[in-house]
Amino acid sequence: MTAPPQVVIFGASGDLTRRKLIPAFARLDADPRLPSNFTILGVSRTPLTTEQFRAQLAESIAPAGRAAFERLAPRIFYYTADTSDGPAMDALGDQLDALPGGRASGRLFYLSLKPQLFAPVAERLGASGLLHRWGRGEGFRRVVVEKPFGNDLRSARRLNRELYRSLQEDQIYRIDHYLGKETVQNLLGFRFHNAIFEPLWNRHHVELVQITVAETLGVENGRGGYYDETGALRDMVQNHMLQILALIAMEPPSTLAAEAVRGQKVEVLRALRHPAAKVDQRRSVRARYAAGEVGGRTVRAYRDEEGVGRDSETETYVALRAHVENWRWSGVPFLLRHGKRLAARFTEIQVQFHTPPLQLFNRPVELDTADGPQLLSGEDFCQTRPNILTLRIQPQESIELSFGVKRPGNSMDMEPATLRFDYHEHFGHASADAYERLLADALVGDQTLFLRGDEIEASWEFADAVRTSWERPGAPPILEYPAGSWGPSEAELLFGDCQGGFSRG
Ligand code: BG6
Repeated sequence: MTAPPQVVIFGASGDLTRRKLIPAFARLDADPRLPSNFTILGVSRTPLTTEQFRAQLAESIAPAGRAAFERLAPRIFYYTADTSDGPAMDALGDQLDALPGGRASGRLFYLSLKPQLFAPVAERLGASGLLHRWGRGEGFRRVVVEKPFGNDLRSARRLNRELYRSLQEDQIYRIDHYLGKETVQNLLGFRFHNAIFEPLWNRHHVELVQITVAETLGVENGRGGYYDETGALRDMVQNHMLQILALIAMEPPSTLAAEAVRGQKVEVLRALRHPAAKVDQRRSVRARYAAGEVGGRTVRAYRDEEGVGRDSETETYVALRAHVENWRWSGVPFLLRHGKRLAARFTEIQVQFHTPPLQLFNRPVELDTADGPQLLSGEDFCQTRPNILTLRIQPQESIELSFGVKRPGNSMDMEPATLRFDYHEHFGHASADAYERLLADALVGDQTLFLRGDEIEASWEFADAVRTSWERPGAPPILEYPAGSWGPSEAELLFGDCQGGFSRG
């Protein structure tokens, strides 16, 4: 019989543990495909007894998750320790040895900590021998690292180097919670299980791809300080949006093994063209929200948010025209847009196929009338985009393919129609939370949905190049948009003539 795994959560008294990790572990506890009877040891500086910790967690469990939590609760423990306290951290090993399974258990260390602590805690665990399997029969030793993983290429490289001092790459699980979303995982399934789209998935048939992550949230809940140092590009584009782009643009992997999938993604990230040294106004737009109204509520300007500098130059909105320079995608723009405090919350991908080469339908018609010839106006050809594939990630979870159909009647007029698949309608329930899938994979040792070290470095390289382009003399200034709007209209100029515009969900 294999020993039950042990999960150690650092930062256990924090918000993520209560809101995401414990509810997800409670649901996973009942999953027959996973190792059963795992124990959880919460570690944090806050002095608490195990009983108090369990009681705190119980308070934040939603009614639907209560039964699962009650089953797991007797296997949740707590250990008060400051991660910088050497002896206390050394004694962590004794705590774990005393839990069911002891050293034979696989151990998953979850670093839900301030980023500055990732490397020191990993180092301390390594020095205490906790990341090393000393004897035969000892279980796995893995570390989950939360985001942000660095805040530029240099710091990400440094963090990778520091982690490699005590860990092998196959022990490191770098989280990007977007990869845990059902609809994001389905990008792989949709592309590589359905052969009909593959022949069209390239520059010959795709005119452009747009990816939007629109949020109505601002930087509430005390996030102002963190966000002001980070900005939209680093907070969302470098990680979540480039991951989506990589899944859309990657070559088919030869298997679904982690190395095959991650190897193909990293190729795409490395193929992203960096902004040219010459300032180009049509490559990127950045902006910050001014006061406005979101969902009927008046909200303040970004610069007036708590923790944000009054003269802050941090962007809360970014739109980019990116290019993947390879044989498949050369010449196809990837338009990325993300903003806080926009008019609606939605994440979607649109793959826009070329227009037909000739406009046969909806053309102006010349009529011979009693008053002489009269021209009935037709459709602007630029508005004609019969074929768009829309992959909706959230809150709607659906896939739509649009095409034109002939309007019944005596003329040859076409109008748009849609084929639609909806997750909720089809499967009858909402998708599981992203953390559930990621924690399940970390427990069984599947790294496919976690970021590899070189992958993170490649995406930082691109994000840094965009940031550098904003600092060049002559670079467009940061703009303002009213909260609750669709962002600055200048972003529409990132589209070429007759290429359409940003989706409104
Ligand atoms: C986080 C960002 O990574 O993702 C937040 O730090 C953002 O700023 C959040 O709001 C969005 O996640 P989701 O799953 O709500 O789209």
